[in-house]
Amino acid sequence: MYIAPSLLSCDFSRFGEEIERMDKAGADYMHLDVMDGHFVPNLTFGAPILKWVRSYTDKPFDVHLMISEPLKYIDDFADAGADIITFHVECDSDIAETIGKIKSHGIKAGLVVKPKTDISAVYPYLESIDMVLVMSVEPGFGGQSFMADMLQKVKELKEEVTARKLKDFLIEIDGGIGEQNIKMCAEAGVDICVAGTSVFKAEDAGEAIKTLKALCE
Ligand code: DX5
Ligand code: ZN
Repeated sequence: MYIAPSLLSCDFSRFGEEIERMDKAGADYMHLDVMDGHFVPNLTFGAPILKWVRSYTDKPFDVHLMISEPLKYIDDFADAGADIITFHVECDSDIAETIGKIKSHGIKAGLVVKPKTDISAVYPYLESIDMVLVMSVEPGFGGQSFMADMLQKVKELKEEVTARKLKDFLIEIDGGIGEQNIKMCAEAGVDICVAGTSVFKAEDAGEAIKTLKALCE
């Protein structure tokens, strides 16, 4: 299992050092939550901030856009050093065009589904993306409880991806992941778990990541 700590739970006065700390702790990806106060009721940061902290790690930047019009900002996030950009299938931008824009930068593109959205919403795009992110909480805030029924979506998606013989396709899950549920995620077919609270609130982030990974073996 790959672990992507969500920097939403970090100390933003030391954003760069927090990224460095997660790198040393064994994070596989850095999960960066971008919110616009419109698509979700919270605000975080934009591309200029990401550009400032990009040099603190060589690990891939997994940028999760919770914004109404992702298409407008793809160039900025790609130029800032994103390696993966995921955006919501529920957004207002043209989905195919936004995927094309991401891919034009030679980076990975993914679609995200909110808890109330059917997983079939991403099926028309599976051949043109690299990843699907299944939300296991309502997007907007860290520290919420894991919605176990979202694992059904992961299972359905996994079957669909296998049936279509899509190679190297990644399934990510985000929200409320910790020691108590990561094994279930692995069994359902998840490749990457986002973990905010469970890694950042741990006394030793390295131990927390190690434990999360060990629980999936
Ligand atoms: C929520 C974000 C998540 C969040 C996860 O909208 O997309 O990435 O930070 O945090 P935890 O692991 O605390 O639920
Ligand atoms: Zn996220």
